[in-house]
Amino acid sequence: MLTLLVGGFFGDEGKGKVASYLALKDEPSISLRTGAVNAGHTVILQGREWKIRAIPSAFVNPKTRIGLGPGALTNLGVLFKELEETGSTSRFFLDPHVGVISDQEVEEERQDDYLMKVVGSTGQGVGYAESKRVLRKLKLASDYPELGRFLTDVPASVVEAVERGEEVLVEGTQGHMLSLYHGHYPYVTSRNTTASGILSEVGVGPKYVREVIVVFKSFVTRVGQGALEGELDQVEAEKLGLVERGTVTGRLRRVAPFNMKLAKQVVKVNGATQVAITKLDWLFKGASGIRRYQDLPVEAKRWIEEIQGELKVPVTIIGTGSDTYDVIDLRREVAEE
Ligand code: IMP
Ligand code: MG
Repeated sequence: MLTLLVGGFFGDEGKGKVASYLALKDEPSISLRTGAVNAGHTVILQGREWKIRAIPSAFVNPKTRIGLGPGALTNLGVLFKELEETGSTSRFFLDPHVGVISDQEVEEERQDDYLMKVVGSTGQGVGYAESKRVLRKLKLASDYPELGRFLTDVPASVVEAVERGEEVLVEGTQGHMLSLYHGHYPYVTSRNTTASGILSEVGVGPKYVREVIVVFKSFVTRVGQGALEGELDQVEAEKLGLVERGTVTGRLRRVAPFNMKLAKQVVKVNGATQVAITKLDWLFKGASGIRRYQDLPVEAKRWIEEIQGELKVPVTIIGTGSDTYDVIDLRREVAEE
């Protein structure tokens, strides 16, 4: 069955870490990444670090075939570089309908003051490429001979895998609040980033979905423009040790405390069946590297229980450090209840 991994806030919740963990733990036969190369996912595994923006974070499991569904966009330079760096060329595939961003769209976007300054775009040409696709002028994967060997009917492959009883992991990019439709327009990205949006990019029906895991970080960050409720000034953020930089652009991220009200709405409308919380160790130093729930500091456990009580959805995956395996996995305990 399908598991959808969805960002709950403004992106950068740690989806790459959670996806890499699920890939190693659940061994999906297929994993797809949605979206495009504007979104950076960081994977740190046993001392190695990758900043990935084209391929699924499930590349960490050599048994998982990794791909891009029809609604995704890619950039060939970035894609081939990542396939080589991760040694995953032989298990990569993409749908013929994937949109291809060329240097032209990157340049057009970077010259667009509205996108770059008002919206705060990452300048990767994604919005320009997507708009050309809407106008039916964009070149797709099927137009590029160098992609020929990778072309696969992705919706059909996903359905076949599910029908064989295999697991398929869909890694969303960005977050609910950056959705073109559901975020604070115009301070959003150029696609629908919600659970239903990422499923539509894959192109299979909802009956194949079993789990919707919404990922929240233990605090909220935002890069680019747009409102951020409860935003801390840089001095406060530094005092609390909550300083992060963008994976793609290196920009300093804006910071706010965990937003329960927002999390509740996002859990509800995405139909979350599970919640993942990352960077618990950034709020509770004693949580660092803990992998069993009972070993967490009392305050950290109390905070997780409060979230679970408010969201009314089980918190199943808790991130406690930067390594893929720095995780408390409560799914078994939930299943046994
Ligand atoms: P664009 O999608 O690159 O045009 O950027 C539009 C808005 O979405 C800007 O505020 C970006 O900072 C934000 N954005 C796009 N991708 C990401 C991401 O992966 N993480 C966080 N913010 C993003
Ligand atoms: Mg990111």
